[in-house]
Amino acid sequence: MTDFSAWIQACQARVESVLAERLPAAQIAPQRLHEAMRYAVLGGGKRVRPLLAFAAGEVTGADPNRVQHAAAAVELIHAYSLVHDDMPAMDDDALRRGKPTVHVEFDEATALLVGDALQSLAFDILASQPLADDAATQLAMVQLLAQAAGSRGMAGGQAIDLASVGKPLDLAELEFMHIHKTGALIRASVLLGAQCGAAADASVAALDRYAKCIGLAFQVVDDVLDAEASTATLGKTAGKDAANNKPTYVSLLGATRARELALELRADAHAALAQLGAPAARLRQLADFVVERTF
Ligand code: IPE
Ligand code: IPE
Ligand code: MG
Ligand code: MG
Ligand code: MG
Repeated sequence: MTDFSAWIQACQARVESVLAERLPAAQIAPQRLHEAMRYAVLGGGKRVRPLLAFAAGEVTGADPNRVQHAAAAVELIHAYSLVHDDMPAMDDDALRRGKPTVHVEFDEATALLVGDALQSLAFDILASQPLADDAATQLAMVQLLAQAAGSRGMAGGQAIDLASVGKPLDLAELEFMHIHKTGALIRASVLLGAQCGAAADASVAALDRYAKCIGLAFQVVDDVLDAEASTATLGKTAGKDAANNKPTYVSLLGATRARELALELRADAHAALAQLGAPAARLRQLADFVVERTF
């Protein structure tokens, strides 16, 4: 195992245990909702957003005991977004992380409530766990995640995605959609991880540039994989974007040009980290991971 894959596994295990501890036990009432929340979150996913939070924390000397809570909070928002994204009113998907989607395994009303409750739990964690030296910084962190998840961030991007079905978007419109639906939460993951430590303004600006590049690259690669990878590899239904008539980087540019764009964004992400030196090594590896991934 490489040092990088060992690091990934350690971070994944760490966030898994925080999530397992913070999610209410399935025996606690209302049992079915809690069971479905645990089903949606635990034991699956690449945990890319937590990995980015831990890696950004390394740049600012953050205590991983703090970062793990920020990492859990962003993963909960992400998991909620997937549960809702898969519902019949949105992408209507039956498979997620190699398992039936929440509305298939449980029912639609439960899936709605799982999303609601995961979002609330994310903010409960962010507000209650010690993340920063002072309350003002921690309050700013809560606001950062709220804005990233809201109508000017992820939820807004999802609204644009749904309004764009069957419409050919131009490159600027497509970028706007992707930056919001996926980029916003990835940016929040990096910035929250960094804010658990002591970040100089120049480092924050560099991390922000990095995060914006990686956030867009992540969804460009997601579009490519949807078109090119198999359902078995992805653990979600392949070919769904074309089937749902979604405008994507692949439908606009073709897969070859979309892959080139992801590589350009990786280069921009690496360039953004140039001044940060050795502590940014994990972020560099994650930029490569995001662009080279096959699932
Ligand atoms: C899928 O995200 C949805 C997007 C925002 C593109 P991931 O590819 O991070 O999904 P998991 O968490 O690994 O399942
Ligand atoms: C999902 O984008 C973005 C969010 C969930 C916010 P997609 O609809 O492309 O994600 P997948 O492909 O279903 O994972
Ligand atoms: Mg979608
Ligand atoms: Mg989808
Ligand atoms: Mg997709």
